[in-house]
Amino acid sequence: MPKVGTAEMFKKANDGAYAIGAFNVNNMEIIQGIVEAAAELNTSLILQVSAGARKYARHEYLIKLVEAALLTSDIPIALHLDHGDTFELCKSVIDGGFSSVMIDGSKYSLEDNIAITKKVVDYAHERGIPVEAELGKLAGVEDDVNVAAKDAVYTDPQEAVEFVERTGCDSLAIAIGTSHGAYKFKTEPKLNFKRLEEIQKLLPEKYPLVLHGSSTVIPEFVKLCNDYGGDLGHAMGVPESMIKKAAAMNVAKVNIDTDLRLAMTGTIRKEFVANPSAFDPRKYLGPARDAIREMVKRKIKILGCDGSAAQ
Ligand code: G3H
Ligand code: 13P
Ligand code: ZN
Repeated sequence: MPKVGTAEMFKKANDGAYAIGAFNVNNMEIIQGIVEAAAELNTSLILQVSAGARKYARHEYLIKLVEAALLTSDIPIALHLDHGDTFELCKSVIDGGFSSVMIDGSKYSLEDNIAITKKVVDYAHERGIPVEAELGKLAGVEDDVNVAAKDAVYTDPQEAVEFVERTGCDSLAIAIGTSHGAYKFKTEPKLNFKRLEEIQKLLPEKYPLVLHGSSTVIPEFVKLCNDYGGDLGHAMGVPESMIKKAAAMNVAKVNIDTDLRLAMTGTIRKEFVANPSAFDPRKYLGPARDAIREMVKRKIKILGCDGSAAQ
């Protein structure tokens, strides 16, 4: 199976009212666990690499690991740059074999975000590579922020239309209340589905939207980390029911990293406590890989993309 782009995946996802899971990868065990889950459930898959992950694992290793995943499985797999922050980084991964990129100019003014996104889109499209962009600010949407300030960080629907028209980006990450990491909400979880609907209504029909910060921070896995020496305090994610609802709308891609980190770290902590004298890395990385696989299977079922590889 060749490495594939995301355009076809997103079209099928929005036609079928499900979302594709995009999972962050940093090493071999994480890639293997994710690919095993996706292959078992016959799912199209996006493996994504942040700038930090690329620095950690190194570009050449990641490319070869994904090639190995493609050789050993029979599912469509896209290799995507997550939160590219410069034109140079996007260019480098496009030239180096990634199948899609994200340019995240959300920290800039609208005009500057449009300018950097357009520059990446022009370069990428000449080479047949789709581009995800971001509009709105994920972090800092808190329950106790006043309404005006809240509106300022949620994606503005009119701006989204202008942004997509002027940049030509292929998918758009929007801010409707999710945020990165394990501490998404102070009290109760809240996503602004009304805002999501307004954005959908104004954009072209079935335009693919992306939800970052979509880990559900499952209490069982927070407990697993805490029971074996961790202290994750008031960790809280997006309820699975809300992710399910978003996946059934025009959200075509859902990003998940934190839940994999919790599963992996909790499992490794547990292994060390159960076997204090263990020093063979396979003894704790093996169970961690299994835990990643089971977590990804759970996610795939919530997103409704199981069986999508057969479509
Ligand atoms: O959205 C960010 C992802 O969770 C990647 O995190 O930059 O620490 O690799 P990272
Ligand atoms: P989480 O931190 O909720 O897993 O989000 C990951 C993400 O958005 C990666 O881009
Ligand atoms: Zn993200």
